Amino acid sequence: MTANANPYQTIGLGYSHHRRPDPRIAALIDQALGSARTVINVGAGTGSYEPRGREVTAVEPSTVMIEQRAPGSAPVVQGYAESLPFPDQSFDAAMAILTVHHWSDAAAGLAELRRVSARQVVLTWDPAVSARFWLVAEYLPEIAVADARLAALDAVRTHLERDGAPVAVVPVPVPADCTDGFLGAYWRRPHRYLDPQVRAAISALAILDQEQVERAVRRLDADLATGRWHERHRALLDADALDLGYRLVMAAAH
Ligand SMILES: C[S@@+](CC[C@H](N)C(=O)[O-])C[C@H]1O[C@@H](n2cnc3c(N)ncnc32)[C@H](O)[C@@H]1O
Repeated sequence: MTANANPYQTIGLGYSHHRRPDPRIAALIDQALGSARTVINVGAGTGSYEPRGREVTAVEPSTVMIEQRAPGSAPVVQGYAESLPFPDQSFDAAMAILTVHHWSDAAAGLAELRRVSARQVVLTWDPAVSARFWLVAEYLPEIAVADARLAALDAVRTHLERDGAPVAVVPVPVPADCTDGFLGAYWRRPHRYLDPQVRAAISALAILDQEQVERAVRRLDADLATGRWHERHRALLDADALDLGYRLVMAAAH
C-alpha cells in the first residue's frame, strides 16, 4: 500500500481539468447521503462530488491529487482507506466515488468505511454491463480483462453487506454531455478518446500498454473518418443518457 502503487500519484496531473464533477451524478450521490450531516469522503481526489451544506472530511493518499483541491474545499487528511485515522462511528456517512478499485485491499477499506460511519455510499461499476460499452467491446477488450482483477460491484456489495446490513444498488446513467471524463463519459462523443490528455485522465486507459491503446485509437480514428463508427452506432446519437454499468451502492447499519 505505497504511494507508488497508486496510479494517481503519476497520472493525476490534469485530473481537475478533465474530471469535473457531473451535476446529475452529484445529485444522485447527494440523495444517497440522505440526512447525513457529517461525511467522510474516502479516495477524495481533487474533491469532486463533495456535497455542500454538510460537514465533509476528505481522505486521499496522493499529494498530486491533494494539491489540485480547490481553495476552500473540505479539510483533507493524507491517508488510505485501509486504515482510516478516526474512531468508530465518527461520521453519519462515508462516500467513496470511483476509488475502491484502486485500493490495495478493498475488503479492509470497506470494513473501515463501515467502522467509521453509519451509512456508506460507493460509486463503482458492474463489469458485466461495462464490458458491452463499444469502446471496450470493439476497440479495447483489454479493459474488460483488466477489470476482472479489480474490486467492483460484487466485491463492494459483499463487503458492505456484512452482518446483514441492507444494501441497495441503483444504476447511474451517464449523460451524453457528462462533465466527468471517466472511461464511459464520451460514449456519444467518440472523437474525445483521440485526445491523449483526455485518455491520461482515465486510469483504465492509462494503466494499459500504451502501444495497444495507440493501435485501438488509430482504428477508432479511421472508423470515425470513414463513417463506420456512425453507421454502427447511429442509435446512440439520439440518446441523452446511457447505462454503461456505473452503480451506486448504498448500505446502512440496522
Ligand atoms: C478516480 S480517482 C477518484 C477521485 C474522486 N473520488 C472523484 O470522484 O473524482 C481515485 C482516487 O482514489 C485514490 N486512492 C488510490 N488508492 C487509495 C487508497 N488505498 N485509499 C484511498 N484512496 C485511494 C487515488 O489517489 C485517487 O485520488
